Amino acid sequence: MSGARHLWSGRFAAAPDADVFRFQASFGFDRRLFEDDVEGSLAWADALARAGVLSAGDAAAIREGLAAILEAGRREPGFVAGDDEDIHAFVERKLIERVGDVARRLHTGRSRNEQVSLDLRLYLRRRLAGVQRAVVGLVDALADRADAAGTALMPAYTHLRRAQPTLVAHFFLAHVAALRRDHARLEQAREEADALPLGSGAVVGTSYPIDVDALARRLGFSRVVTNSLDAAADRDFVSSTLHACALLMVHLSRLAEDLILFTAEEFGFFELSDRVATGSSLMPQKKNPDPLELVRGKAGRVVGRAAGWLATMKGLPSGYNKDLQEDKEAVFDAEDAVGGSLEAVTTVVASLEIRPDAGEAAAGGLLLATDVADYLVARGLPFRRAHEVVGGIVRELVASGRDFAALTPAEWRTHHELFEDDVAARITARGSVAARQTPQSTSPAAVQAALEAARTWVAASR
Ligand code: ARG
Repeated sequence: MSGARHLWSGRFAAAPDADVFRFQASFGFDRRLFEDDVEGSLAWADALARAGVLSAGDAAAIREGLAAILEAGRREPGFVAGDDEDIHAFVERKLIERVGDVARRLHTGRSRNEQVSLDLRLYLRRRLAGVQRAVVGLVDALADRADAAGTALMPAYTHLRRAQPTLVAHFFLAHVAALRRDHARLEQAREEADALPLGSGAVVGTSYPIDVDALARRLGFSRVVTNSLDAAADRDFVSSTLHACALLMVHLSRLAEDLILFTAEEFGFFELSDRVATGSSLMPQKKNPDPLELVRGKAGRVVGRAAGWLATMKGLPSGYNKDLQEDKEAVFDAEDAVGGSLEAVTTVVASLEIRPDAGEAAAGGLLLATDVADYLVARGLPFRRAHEVVGGIVRELVASGRDFAALTPAEWRTHHELFEDDVAARITARGSVAARQTPQSTSPAAVQAALEAARTWVAASR
């Protein structure tokens, strides 16, 4: 290797301690920014040429060298390797190897502080779009299940106690609603990353006449950062990304938990496909939902990444500090957990079998108590009175191990004279869902509209 060992070796009389150097180096993980780093350097070389800092010939040589490096790295991932300090040092070393001394002009007016911010912004702009696509894929799978569920019923729970009957489709579409918010939050994080930091120099700006607006357009950014000192340490786009990922994982975890419960023997409303279940090495009968449990587990990990990152940021003085290097492992780890989890949950959902009989059996009985109260209200009784009357009926039924269906017309009437002969026919799970009136409710018409809205959203988001 000709010239200095490290990007900054000239300043020092002694070589760095090997262990300490390795400790502070980031190439082990920031190699993931390879493409973005080279793209950023290609654009920077152009900007320097436009500013008259690089001659047309030098700029062309640098561009050709960078293009060849990009091509080599894309073709052979093993190419992006070495004992370099970071991805920026790696690319510069490769460029010097390829085009010689002219490569040493590329870093004119530029700092790694803005370069690393640029790389991560470019990376997230393309990678978050991939996470969003995976979210759309899961929404699509949930909409398919909602469709397949048709008019199947199950109980809706509060306090994990049977509350009221719901269409199974409404359950799947509930998770769709949460995931659509996640999609919007990911979009918000992408928008925060959408600002060009180049031109900020190390901290106070660059002294070369760089046309930052043209550079922003060239790299696909819609705007330029407004303050170089802020830009050096602004990782709000990282915080927002991690928050969006953490909340997405919370939602995947809650979906996983619902499916773990509802596929268990005690509930049995759904059946896991054999393809996504695991067995026990000891107990031959076991069919375990390991992938769903692991999603639930990984949610804790991503929440930890988000919380940990905010803790890293909170005490930092203005300008770049090396602590910021921690952003990348947090982002990459969250991204991996989210990507794997979305894939697993989508496969589980897409292959989920619905057991309408089990759901329907559980959706009847005493969870129709509110409908009985509504029956009395419709006949003029104040709701609070009706609640009391029905509470008394429930107490009796619980004591005798029966439910509303077992009551004779005469028995109904002993509880209140407003009960007429039609009561038994009216108090059914299907009648209960049909009675819902609002657009967000589980009424078949509302659920059908929600399903169509989900389908339209998937089509528009692809
Ligand atoms: N590896 C560094 C990071 O991830 C790149 C920026 C280094 N800048 C510096 N002044 N040491 O933040």
